[in-house]
Amino acid sequence: MQANVIIIGSGIAALQLAKKLSSDLHVIIITKTKVTTSNSYLAQGGIAVALSEQDNPFKHYQDTLEAGRFHNNHEVVSLMTKEAPELINELLSEGCSFDRDAATGRLKLGLEGAHSEKRIIHGGGDATGKTVVDFLYQQINHINVIENMTVYELLISDDRCIGVKAKDSSGRTIQVFADHTVIATGGLGQIYSFTSNAQTVTGDGLALAYRAGAELADMEFVQFHPTLLHADGKGAGLVSEAVRGEGARLVAEDGTYIMEGVHPYKDLAPRHVVSQTIFDWMKKGHTVYLDISQIEDFEDHFPTVASICKENGIDVKSGKIPVVPGCHFLMGGIVTDLNGQTTIPNLYAVGEAACTGVHGANRLASNSLLEGLFFGKRLADYINQSKVEGKKLIRKRTNERITPSRSLLPDITRLKNSMMERTGIMRSGSNLKKQLDYLEGFAINQWLEADLDQLSVEELNKVFMLISSWLVTKAAMARTESRGGHLRTDYPNEDKSWEQTQIIQHKKGGRI
Ligand code: SIN
Repeated sequence: MQANVIIIGSGIAALQLAKKLSSDLHVIIITKTKVTTSNSYLAQGGIAVALSEQDNPFKHYQDTLEAGRFHNNHEVVSLMTKEAPELINELLSEGCSFDRDAATGRLKLGLEGAHSEKRIIHGGGDATGKTVVDFLYQQINHINVIENMTVYELLISDDRCIGVKAKDSSGRTIQVFADHTVIATGGLGQIYSFTSNAQTVTGDGLALAYRAGAELADMEFVQFHPTLLHADGKGAGLVSEAVRGEGARLVAEDGTYIMEGVHPYKDLAPRHVVSQTIFDWMKKGHTVYLDISQIEDFEDHFPTVASICKENGIDVKSGKIPVVPGCHFLMGGIVTDLNGQTTIPNLYAVGEAACTGVHGANRLASNSLLEGLFFGKRLADYINQSKVEGKKLIRKRTNERITPSRSLLPDITRLKNSMMERTGIMRSGSNLKKQLDYLEGFAINQWLEADLDQLSVEELNKVFMLISSWLVTKAAMARTESRGGHLRTDYPNEDKSWEQTQIIQHKKGGRI
């Protein structure tokens, strides 16, 4: 098969890119299961955009840097926050419907953690991701979408990317060649036992890119969302931060407000601060709840949260939802420039899989859908302007590669629990070393070079999860300070000399 552009993944960045690519390009989207299985589709919280009279993009920029603990790429943050109103106005003018105030007809602007102004727009109450994904998907009828195909290898020839290999659950394999290959596979939430992420989010794009020789950066910065519903010992789905934006408070079992005195924004402090506080209380044996008793018409306002609670036997009328933090977002990823170009020619990354520097050490709430819209559009502009080479793409034979023994694949429950315990919300040098030894026991170096053709989709997922876990753990060991989503108990403070320093990982030797 041959295309001009292959997009791997089907979240908001992928769909925005597909929509904006010139209609004379042959574009193929390859997605692991269904188009609608993505973190974007699950996103409850909305899109941050400075629209109110007292707000402006500069305040949004400042809040993004403050939440990111100034590790962000300032230029990218400035461009994105300035362009946000135009991106939203464009969606509105095309008919995408965001929630409006019944009395005034104006867009409702909500508050979320670490925002100094009300600037979060929502669709369907707490179904913003679904609203936007459904809307964008309707607009790309002309695009060939291949569902239920897992991309497991990037084809590289003469040091540039020329396409992908993919397979379905029955083992059928396809090769697709293209002028431009885009990774839009999201992050790696499923490497942790507690996560808000879709089942399919197993670090695929990160492992694909690393194996192919691309640079990755900031992999130690993993965001834990403070409030997953805690049911039957599991994280059973997200309870949006917008719930706290409407006045819910975090309490211990005796009603103590746990965020009191911790941060000036209290329950709406940046996510890493709230998650770390809940984690501390839980470690001491407490149960933590969201007290929602002050929110009127909870079920009308938050239908998705209410239905997750109902499915898990929690009655929201009781006024209390038990919560636990869980992995939510990866700030790092595949290094890209402002157009989404990676360090491998003709290979691009957008959305959560990319590290553009926009989120720094901790993403500001509701900046991720915005990132997808912003970079999806930028990359489309770039590809639309670049010359299509139309060259016949021939893959040179690579050296003989081996498939390591399947016994060198981890048990996934053990992997996820160990990541949570040792490379999770609180990290220490000794635990990270233990985790690195455990992961390297699976012969990572062999998996980085292995022939994956014979593996099943389930085994491929294990390889991707193993490599992603190893990248996060190695980066977390290297950063000897605490900043944003990365908390080291043995280096508890921010160290100014690390503020703009990135840990870059590359197969042939990384650098700081
Ligand atoms: C949420 O609704 O709390 C998640 C929003 C986000 O991740 O930005």
